[in-house]
Amino acid sequence: MESIKFAVLPGDGIGPEVMTAALQVLQEAMASTGIQLDYQEADVGGIAIDTHGSALPKATLDLCGESDAILFGSVGGPKWENLPPKEQPERAALLPLRKHFSLFANLRPGLLFKELTPASPLKEERIPDGIDILCIRELTGGIYFGQPKETTTLPDGDIQALDTMVYRKSEIERITEVAIQAARSRGKRLCSVDKANVLETSVLWRQVVTDYITKNAPEIELSHLYVDNAAMQLVCDPNQFDVLFTENMFGDILSDEMAVICGSLGMLASASLGKSHNKHNKPFGLYEPAGGTAPDIAGKGIANPCAQVLSAALMLRFSFGLDAVAAQIEAAVKKTVTGGTRTGDIAFGSTAVGTEEMIAAIIKNL
Ligand code: IPM
Ligand code: MG
Repeated sequence: MESIKFAVLPGDGIGPEVMTAALQVLQEAMASTGIQLDYQEADVGGIAIDTHGSALPKATLDLCGESDAILFGSVGGPKWENLPPKEQPERAALLPLRKHFSLFANLRPGLLFKELTPASPLKEERIPDGIDILCIRELTGGIYFGQPKETTTLPDGDIQALDTMVYRKSEIERITEVAIQAARSRGKRLCSVDKANVLETSVLWRQVVTDYITKNAPEIELSHLYVDNAAMQLVCDPNQFDVLFTENMFGDILSDEMAVICGSLGMLASASLGKSHNKHNKPFGLYEPAGGTAPDIAGKGIANPCAQVLSAALMLRFSFGLDAVAAQIEAAVKKTVTGGTRTGDIAFGSTAVGTEEMIAAIIKNL
């Protein structure tokens, strides 16, 4: 491998500053491998609406299509909040990107280092050793994309809105396969989350998951929870879970809950993997921090770059198979924050550093 080719979409808010930071770390970490970084930047989200009149311009989509992975920042902000919902950056950029590249598997590692437990809203006695779980969310099906999806005025003058929750067996099987692979690389325990006491899609989900795992991965310890119970269990005892996996909307909700108990959104990375393979014979993927644009602190140089850096590490691992470099970056981030160099979101009382100092420390610890 001589180079790795990826698209860089910094987006809005803190996106550009944490992206610059993450690229510096990538550059340093890759220097010793002799593999070049071959990337180009493109606009996405609010900035793309302002400069090109579309949250996901064709040029951006083309660039992504020519690349082997996408490193994504974040999109949206107060400036675009008054646009019609369908035109807002989140819905007009992120969802079409997911659908266009069939990014059906969203992996969100919920990691809280022991040293950072005071940053979690949970009592320390519930998480004496921190948190280490993985949430896998189906990302291109369910109620987000099901048709019909519309608002109509009824003959009696009342207004009705409709979303459709729909899943196919094949969609459930392919996300189950990803969950199995992830569980095999961790504690071999999978908890599938659904609402099979109410929803047809969940009845199918539970059936397909059970059959698939019984047949293909009998060594995996499988359990099932209803989503309301799962939400409760997650705050009571997060470490009872190894890998949690669920459909699109439940995963959206549970992964935010997981993010907050892990202390700071500024620490959480994510990978959205597609069904097509790139020229390295690895899944094409989109890698983004979980935290969003944080408009309140954008441009101040104080944003936590860790989630973006860790997302870049996930890209190296999943889309380029560069596991050792990915692990090196992850270890450097861990060493930096557990050693006490922290941005404001995870400083809890101690002196906070800015984005640049944080990056300098991570690079030093590589
Ligand atoms: C996420 C976000 C998105 C989602 C929004 C921005 C459309 O909340 O990635 O979790 O709902 O999937
Ligand atoms: Mg969400």
